[in-house]
Amino acid sequence: MDICVIGAGHVGLVTAACFAELGNQVICIDSNKARIADIKQSIMPFYEPGMKEMVVKNVQKKRLSFTASLKDAVRKSLVIFIAVGTPPKENGEADLTSIERVAQDIARYMPSYRLVVEKSTVPVETGKWVEHTIKVNVSGKKKFDVASNPEFLSEGSAIDDFMRPDRVVLGVESKRAEDLLVELYKPLNCPIVVTDIKSAEIIKHASNSFLACKISFINAIANICDRVGADVEKVAKGVGADRRIAYKFLHAGCGYGGFCFPKDVDAFIRIAEKKGYDFHLLKAVREINEEQKELIVKKIESVLWNLKGKTIGILGLSFKPGTDDMRFAPSIDIIDRLQTSGTKIRAFDPQAMPEAKKIFGKGIKFCKDVYEVAKGSDCLAVITEWNEFKELDFKRLKKLLKQPIIIDGRNIYDPNKIKKLGFTYVGIGRS
Ligand SMILES: NC(=O)c1ccc[n+]([C@@H]2O[C@H](COP(=O)([O-])OP(=O)(O)OC[C@H]3O[C@@H](n4cnc5c(N)ncnc54)[C@H](O)[C@@H]3O)[C@@H](O)[C@H]2O)c1
Repeated sequence: MDICVIGAGHVGLVTAACFAELGNQVICIDSNKARIADIKQSIMPFYEPGMKEMVVKNVQKKRLSFTASLKDAVRKSLVIFIAVGTPPKENGEADLTSIERVAQDIARYMPSYRLVVEKSTVPVETGKWVEHTIKVNVSGKKKFDVASNPEFLSEGSAIDDFMRPDRVVLGVESKRAEDLLVELYKPLNCPIVVTDIKSAEIIKHASNSFLACKISFINAIANICDRVGADVEKVAKGVGADRRIAYKFLHAGCGYGGFCFPKDVDAFIRIAEKKGYDFHLLKAVREINEEQKELIVKKIESVLWNLKGKTIGILGLSFKPGTDDMRFAPSIDIIDRLQTSGTKIRAFDPQAMPEAKKIFGKGIKFCKDVYEVAKGSDCLAVITEWNEFKELDFKRLKKLLKQPIIIDGRNIYDPNKIKKLGFTYVGIGRS
């Protein structure tokens, strides 16, 4: 099938590469010309395991191409995926100006029937607005369909998530749109949930909000564990062993971040508000998440006494392991709070340091590895649970640190093992 993907970001680039891998003819476009020029030179705009290889292979096989010309791409493609960013506005609402601009351009350039698919995460009723926008901008009586096909991939495992999804959700309002999308996804051999467009849009916001809910729930439980001396990891295992609940996303830590959960929770709260419903459950989810970031600072303070003049060694900056994405990473707020309290920061991240340098500039000392971070630091704080941090030379770390203290913001270590090595161990919901 001839398809085009608008937006060469975390979702668009993976979608384009995977559809090409499945044998389709794919054009990927982005308004950022420098990004397109880089990709053409095999320079990927971000780190995602396996993506570069898949892009290069499909470009060589001539199934995948990149352009900055929407006109060309729309003319040549039957199915058009919109995967542009939908960043949050000041008030938490999703900024949909890119979606509108793209819809206007598609209308102008489409020579005949096109299926326009929302891949970006958008608030419910966006489909209606996309349809309206195309209608008022299209010349003549060219037919088109709008569909919603939300994406559920996670950065760090994006290719696998796309190729082996738990389900594909298709929000459609015509048989033609349904047939085209079912055909496109058939090779994945996975369950397909077909709904109307509005329900599909809500499925995406509801899914992300539910996952955020699970994280805040276990963080709240961790706070109780902290107060009574229980172990939240054991609690999570016991609770998560129930298949109705499931263990995934029951990991206590210093809060969720990234380009999806914070903005999607905010956007869902705003949509509910606009429609006259106070989504207090989600407001509490957001509040607990904010508190977790403050909590880690308090925990550091509890073992270092005054923060002013101390040096904190930060392990992990990206919002999660497996990515260099720093968008809404908890590390940003945590480091900001620590710096406001007068601490110096030494930090290391296996992938995200170039991105982090754009945010922190010279304000923090970027180190070449964990051991350089430890040198002269008053404690080590794990903020992102990279595998690289799980097995370390603790004897060496103990010699390098000013004080042998580990703040395990992601509960990646066995507290007893760390304590036996002579460290003070502070976890989240366990000690
Ligand atoms: N990142 C994720 O893990 C993830 C997962 C599922 C869904 N989503 C959703 O997918 C959407 C895209 O997210 P992302 O992480 O890929 O964003 P991103 O910022 O990585 O990429 C967006 C891309 O769109 C391009 N763009 C913006 N306006 C454009 C326009 N008018 N024409 C052409 N290109 C344009 C940008 O230059 C950028 O390259 C968002 O709605 C997001 O919520 C993201």
